Amino acid sequence: MSNLLSSSIGRKLLMSLSGLFLITFLVVHLSINLLLLIPDGGEAFNVAANFMALPLIKFGLQPVLALGFIVHIAYGAILTAKNNKARGNNKYASGNNTKEVMWASKNMAVLGVTILAFLAVHMVDYWIPLQITHAVGSVTIGGVEMHDTYSLVAANFQNPLKVVLYVIGSLGLAVHLTHGFWSAFQTLGASNTIWRKRWTVIGTVFAWVVSLGFCVIAIAMYACGSCC
Ligand code: HEM
Repeated sequence: MSNLLSSSIGRKLLMSLSGLFLITFLVVHLSINLLLLIPDGGEAFNVAANFMALPLIKFGLQPVLALGFIVHIAYGAILTAKNNKARGNNKYASGNNTKEVMWASKNMAVLGVTILAFLAVHMVDYWIPLQITHAVGSVTIGGVEMHDTYSLVAANFQNPLKVVLYVIGSLGLAVHLTHGFWSAFQTLGASNTIWRKRWTVIGTVFAWVVSLGFCVIAIAMYACGSCC
């Protein structure tokens, strides 16, 4: 087990498995967030969002999600440091993979830090008021009192700077996923010359659909708040 955590292939394996786990989370997150666009005064979104407050989710799934982020970020930082050290001054060495390696070790780290900065703001916007301080209004739906998460999101997106920040964070996510998606399958051995191309296309489409989905939500909520 300690070999797995410290060997180069073990680290790459943990990066790809945690990355695919976080990708699954993003699909669920975007699916719930798309409910924001239903013109029902936020009912469907509030019911789905309050599912996150159930004890099973709060104490069961959330720690697993946090662990997924920690593993991905920690091993990403270790891999980047090792790659930079291994390359040393020879940053422009030629070879089959040189462009890819440089892209992965340089831009993936920069994009990762951008997403991390976005996530820090995002947690202050939502996770802290919803899960820790409960500094959020409440609403009763079907006789059940719950957090009015919809109003929190709607108020947040009345600030154009926040909309810009969410768009930048989502675009950073798109580029990060464009590379990370096929790379994960390559590490897992589910790739050859043909499948490498296929994973690249699937990953690129997936990355932009998910990321533009988040952008559309932020922009639509802003537009709706300004005109409705
Ligand atoms: C339109 C864009 C987005 C909106 C409106 C949004 C909304 C929310 C809300 C309301 C929560 C709180 C859920 C709760 O605890 O009850 C949340 C949590 C979270 N969001 Fe987002 N989100 C957006 C984009 C993103 C993106 C792009 C990422 C990832 C890069 C992300 C990652 C997370 C994470 C990690 C959590 C914590 C999950 C948990 O509760 O454990 N979100 N988001």
